[in-house]
Amino acid sequence: MLKKLFFNWKMNPTSPNEASSLFAEFVSLAQSQPQISLVVLPPYVYLSELNQQLQTSGVTNLKLGAQDLARHSAGAYTGQISGQMLKNMGCQYVLIGHSETREAYQLSHEQINQKLLQSLESGLVPILCVGHQSDKTITEINYPELSEQVTTALQNLPTEFKTEFYLAYEPVWAIGTGKTATNSIIEEVSQFLKQELAKLGLAKQVGILYGGSVDDVSIQELVKLQQVDGFLIGGASLKPEKFKTIAQVVANQV
Ligand code: PGA
Repeated sequence: MLKKLFFNWKMNPTSPNEASSLFAEFVSLAQSQPQISLVVLPPYVYLSELNQQLQTSGVTNLKLGAQDLARHSAGAYTGQISGQMLKNMGCQYVLIGHSETREAYQLSHEQINQKLLQSLESGLVPILCVGHQSDKTITEINYPELSEQVTTALQNLPTEFKTEFYLAYEPVWAIGTGKTATNSIIEEVSQFLKQELAKLGLAKQVGILYGGSVDDVSIQELVKLQQVDGFLIGGASLKPEKFKTIAQVVANQV
Protein backbone atom coordinates (compact mmCIF):
# COMPACT_ATOMS: atom_id res chain seq x y z
CA MET A 1 0.00 0.00 0.00
CA LEU A 2 1.17 3.55 -0.71
CA LYS A 3 2.50 5.37 2.30
CA LYS A 4 0.25 8.09 3.66
CA LEU A 5 1.66 11.60 4.18
CA PHE A 6 0.84 13.88 7.13
CA PHE A 7 1.99 17.50 7.02
CA ASN A 8 2.37 19.35 10.31
CA TRP A 9 2.58 23.09 9.67
CA LYS A 10 3.27 23.76 13.37
CA MET A 11 2.94 27.53 14.12
CA ASN A 12 3.18 28.60 10.45
CA PRO A 13 2.47 30.58 8.31
CA THR A 14 1.64 33.96 9.86
CA SER A 15 -1.31 35.14 7.74
CA PRO A 16 -4.50 33.66 6.26
CA ASN A 17 -3.37 34.62 2.74
CA GLU A 18 -0.13 32.72 3.10
CA ALA A 19 -2.01 29.75 4.57
CA SER A 20 -4.40 29.75 1.66
CA SER A 21 -1.58 29.96 -0.94
CA LEU A 22 0.33 27.15 0.74
CA PHE A 23 -2.80 25.02 0.93
CA ALA A 24 -3.45 25.63 -2.78
CA GLU A 25 -0.14 23.87 -3.46
CA PHE A 26 -1.42 20.83 -1.55
CA VAL A 27 -4.67 20.91 -3.52
CA SER A 28 -2.76 20.91 -6.80
CA LEU A 29 -0.50 18.11 -5.51
CA ALA A 30 -3.58 16.06 -4.55
CA GLN A 31 -5.03 16.62 -8.01
CA SER A 32 -1.84 15.59 -9.79
CA GLN A 33 -1.23 12.52 -7.56
CA PRO A 34 -4.73 11.13 -6.97
CA GLN A 35 -3.37 7.79 -5.71
CA ILE A 36 -1.65 9.38 -2.68
CA SER A 37 -3.43 10.22 0.59
CA LEU A 38 -2.45 13.57 2.08
CA VAL A 39 -3.39 15.11 5.42
CA VAL A 40 -2.56 18.74 6.28
CA LEU A 41 -2.45 19.79 9.94
CA PRO A 42 -2.58 23.62 10.01
CA PRO A 43 -2.96 25.93 13.03
CA TYR A 44 -6.56 26.03 14.36
CA VAL A 45 -7.20 29.58 13.14
CA TYR A 46 -6.95 28.61 9.47
CA LEU A 47 -9.13 25.50 9.60
CA SER A 48 -12.41 27.11 8.62
CA GLU A 49 -11.06 28.88 5.55
CA LEU A 50 -8.96 25.94 4.42
CA ASN A 51 -11.93 23.62 4.80
CA GLN A 52 -13.92 25.85 2.45
CA GLN A 53 -11.03 25.85 0.00
CA LEU A 54 -10.93 22.06 0.22
CA GLN A 55 -14.67 21.66 -0.33
CA THR A 56 -14.57 23.97 -3.34
CA SER A 57 -11.67 22.04 -4.88
CA GLY A 58 -13.59 18.76 -4.80
CA VAL A 59 -10.41 16.72 -4.14
CA THR A 60 -10.98 13.61 -2.03
CA ASN A 61 -7.42 12.47 -1.28
CA LEU A 62 -6.56 15.55 0.80
CA LYS A 63 -7.93 15.87 4.35
CA LEU A 64 -7.55 18.28 7.24
CA GLY A 65 -6.45 17.66 10.79
CA ALA A 66 -5.52 19.62 13.92
CA GLN A 67 -2.29 19.69 15.91
CA ASP A 68 -3.86 19.10 19.34
CA LEU A 69 -7.21 18.98 21.17
CA ALA A 70 -8.54 19.54 24.68
CA ARG A 71 -8.76 16.80 27.29
CA HIS A 72 -12.39 17.68 27.94
CA SER A 73 -15.48 17.80 25.76
CA ALA A 74 -16.80 21.27 26.73
CA GLY A 75 -16.93 23.78 29.57
CA ALA A 76 -14.81 26.31 31.44
CA TYR A 77 -11.42 25.58 29.83
CA THR A 78 -10.17 28.94 28.59
CA GLY A 79 -8.01 28.73 25.49
CA GLN A 80 -8.86 25.10 24.73
CA ILE A 81 -10.38 23.62 21.57
CA SER A 82 -12.53 20.48 21.83
CA GLY A 83 -12.61 17.48 19.53
CA GLN A 84 -16.22 18.16 18.61
CA MET A 85 -15.34 21.73 17.56
CA LEU A 86 -12.60 20.38 15.32
CA LYS A 87 -14.91 17.79 13.83
CA ASN A 88 -17.49 20.49 13.11
CA MET A 89 -14.75 22.55 11.41
CA GLY A 90 -14.09 19.78 8.88
CA CYS A 91 -11.19 18.07 10.64
CA GLN A 92 -10.85 14.33 10.32
CA TYR A 93 -7.50 13.81 12.05
CA VAL A 94 -5.76 15.10 15.17
CA LEU A 95 -2.18 14.92 16.44
CA ILE A 96 -1.88 13.84 20.03
CA GLY A 97 1.21 14.11 22.20
CA HIS A 98 3.62 15.66 19.72
CA SER A 99 6.89 16.07 21.62
CA GLU A 100 6.70 19.87 21.28
CA THR A 101 3.18 19.85 22.79
CA ARG A 102 4.17 17.40 25.52
CA GLU A 103 7.03 19.69 26.49
CA ALA A 104 5.18 23.02 26.21
CA TYR A 105 2.31 21.84 28.43
CA GLN A 106 4.25 19.30 30.50
CA LEU A 107 1.64 16.69 29.57
CA SER A 108 1.48 13.51 31.62
CA HIS A 109 0.79 10.11 30.05
CA GLU A 110 -2.67 10.22 31.66
CA GLN A 111 -3.45 13.57 30.05
CA ILE A 112 -2.40 12.19 26.67
CA ASN A 113 -4.78 9.29 27.32
CA GLN A 114 -7.63 11.74 28.02
CA LYS A 115 -6.94 13.54 24.74
CA LEU A 116 -6.92 10.24 22.91
CA LEU A 117 -10.26 9.21 24.39
CA GLN A 118 -11.68 12.63 23.42
CA SER A 119 -10.51 12.19 19.83
CA LEU A 120 -12.26 8.84 19.54
CA GLU A 121 -15.41 10.17 21.17
CA SER A 122 -15.47 13.06 18.67
CA GLY A 123 -14.92 10.79 15.67
CA LEU A 124 -11.43 12.12 14.90
CA VAL A 125 -8.65 9.80 13.76
CA PRO A 126 -5.82 10.07 16.31
CA ILE A 127 -2.16 10.27 15.38
CA LEU A 128 -0.46 9.46 18.65
CA CYS A 129 3.17 10.63 18.68
CA VAL A 130 5.73 8.77 20.72
CA GLY A 131 9.50 9.14 20.92
CA HIS A 132 12.24 8.84 23.44
CA GLN A 133 12.30 12.17 25.23
CA SER A 134 15.42 11.55 27.24
CA ASP A 135 17.69 10.11 24.58
CA LYS A 136 20.17 12.28 22.78
CA THR A 137 21.14 9.88 19.99
CA ILE A 138 19.74 6.86 18.24
CA THR A 139 22.11 4.52 20.03
CA GLU A 140 20.19 5.02 23.29
CA ILE A 141 16.66 3.85 22.49
CA ASN A 142 14.66 3.95 25.68
CA TYR A 143 12.33 1.00 25.16
CA PRO A 144 10.75 1.15 28.63
CA GLU A 145 9.82 4.80 28.02
CA LEU A 146 8.36 4.01 24.60
CA SER A 147 6.40 1.14 26.09
CA GLU A 148 5.03 3.36 28.84
CA GLN A 149 4.06 6.08 26.36
CA VAL A 150 2.11 3.57 24.28
CA THR A 151 0.44 1.53 27.00
CA THR A 152 -0.66 4.44 29.19
CA ALA A 153 -1.94 6.45 26.23
CA LEU A 154 -3.97 3.51 24.97
CA GLN A 155 -5.69 2.41 28.15
CA ASN A 156 -9.48 2.34 28.61
CA LEU A 157 -10.21 2.45 24.89
CA PRO A 158 -13.83 1.75 24.03
CA THR A 159 -14.27 -1.94 23.20
CA GLU A 160 -16.21 -1.27 20.01
CA PHE A 161 -13.52 1.12 18.76
CA LYS A 162 -12.81 0.41 15.09
CA THR A 163 -11.55 3.65 13.58
CA GLU A 164 -8.39 4.30 11.61
CA PHE A 165 -5.55 5.02 14.05
CA TYR A 166 -1.88 5.98 13.75
CA LEU A 167 1.15 5.75 16.00
CA ALA A 168 3.94 8.10 14.93
CA TYR A 169 7.46 7.25 16.03
CA GLU A 170 9.40 10.51 16.25
CA PRO A 171 12.83 10.39 17.93
CA VAL A 172 13.02 13.81 19.59
CA TRP A 173 16.60 14.45 18.46
CA ALA A 174 15.55 13.96 14.81
CA ILE A 175 12.81 16.61 14.80
CA GLY A 176 13.84 19.71 12.88
CA THR A 177 17.52 18.81 13.00
CA GLY A 178 18.13 17.42 9.51
CA LYS A 179 19.12 14.10 11.13
CA THR A 180 16.99 11.01 10.57
CA ALA A 181 17.09 7.65 12.24
CA THR A 182 18.53 4.85 10.10
CA ASN A 183 16.10 2.51 8.38
CA SER A 184 17.26 -0.45 10.44
CA ILE A 185 16.60 1.40 13.70
CA ILE A 186 13.18 2.59 12.51
CA GLU A 187 12.27 -0.98 11.48
CA GLU A 188 13.45 -2.28 14.87
CA VAL A 189 11.43 0.32 16.80
CA SER A 190 8.38 -0.19 14.57
CA GLN A 191 8.55 -3.92 15.27
CA PHE A 192 8.73 -3.19 19.00
CA LEU A 193 5.74 -0.83 18.79
CA LYS A 194 3.74 -3.46 16.91
CA GLN A 195 4.49 -5.97 19.67
CA GLU A 196 3.29 -3.47 22.28
CA LEU A 197 0.13 -2.87 20.22
CA ALA A 198 -0.41 -6.62 19.87
CA LYS A 199 -0.43 -6.96 23.66
CA LEU A 200 -3.33 -4.47 23.65
CA GLY A 201 -5.10 -6.26 20.79
CA LEU A 202 -4.49 -3.32 18.44
CA ALA A 203 -1.74 -4.61 16.15
CA LYS A 204 -3.89 -4.83 13.03
CA GLN A 205 -5.72 -1.55 13.14
CA VAL A 206 -2.91 0.86 14.05
CA GLY A 207 -0.69 2.21 11.27
CA ILE A 208 2.91 3.12 12.12
CA LEU A 209 4.36 6.45 10.93
CA TYR A 210 7.89 7.80 11.11
CA GLY A 211 8.60 11.49 11.69
CA GLY A 212 11.78 13.51 12.18
CA SER A 213 13.53 15.41 9.36
CA VAL A 214 11.65 13.70 6.54
CA ASP A 215 12.45 15.84 3.49
CA ASP A 216 13.06 15.63 -0.25
CA VAL A 217 16.49 14.07 0.36
CA SER A 218 15.91 11.71 3.31
CA ILE A 219 12.70 10.33 1.74
CA GLN A 220 14.79 8.53 -0.91
CA GLU A 221 16.00 6.10 1.75
CA LEU A 222 13.03 6.25 4.15
CA VAL A 223 10.55 5.26 1.45
CA LYS A 224 12.11 1.77 1.47
CA LEU A 225 10.89 1.11 5.03
CA GLN A 226 8.70 -2.00 5.10
CA GLN A 227 7.17 -1.69 8.58
CA VAL A 228 6.09 1.92 8.18
CA ASP A 229 2.73 3.00 6.73
CA GLY A 230 3.46 6.70 6.30
CA PHE A 231 5.38 9.79 7.36
CA LEU A 232 4.77 12.82 9.58
CA ILE A 233 6.48 15.80 7.99
CA GLY A 234 7.21 19.15 9.67
CA GLY A 235 9.62 21.65 8.12
CA ALA A 236 9.32 20.30 4.56
CA SER A 237 5.54 20.83 4.65
CA LEU A 238 6.13 24.58 4.25
CA LYS A 239 8.20 24.19 1.06
CA PRO A 240 6.18 23.15 -2.01
CA GLU A 241 9.20 21.95 -3.99
CA LYS A 242 10.17 19.70 -1.06
CA PHE A 243 6.76 18.21 -0.27
CA LYS A 244 6.02 17.66 -3.94
CA THR A 245 9.26 15.69 -4.31
CA ILE A 246 8.39 13.65 -1.21
CA ALA A 247 4.99 12.80 -2.72
CA GLN A 248 6.56 11.93 -6.06
CA VAL A 249 9.04 9.56 -4.44
CA VAL A 250 6.23 7.87 -2.52
CA ALA A 251 4.08 7.63 -5.66
CA ASN A 252 6.95 5.99 -7.57
CA GLN A 253 7.24 3.30 -4.93
CA VAL A 254 4.23 1.26 -6.13
P1 PGA B 1 10.43 17.91 11.04
O1 PGA B 1 9.22 17.81 12.08
O2 PGA B 1 9.99 17.18 9.80
O3 PGA B 1 10.65 19.37 10.83
O4 PGA B 1 11.59 17.22 11.67
C1 PGA B 1 8.52 16.62 12.26
C2 PGA B 1 7.50 16.79 13.35
O5 PGA B 1 7.75 17.56 14.30
O6 PGA B 1 6.42 16.18 13.32
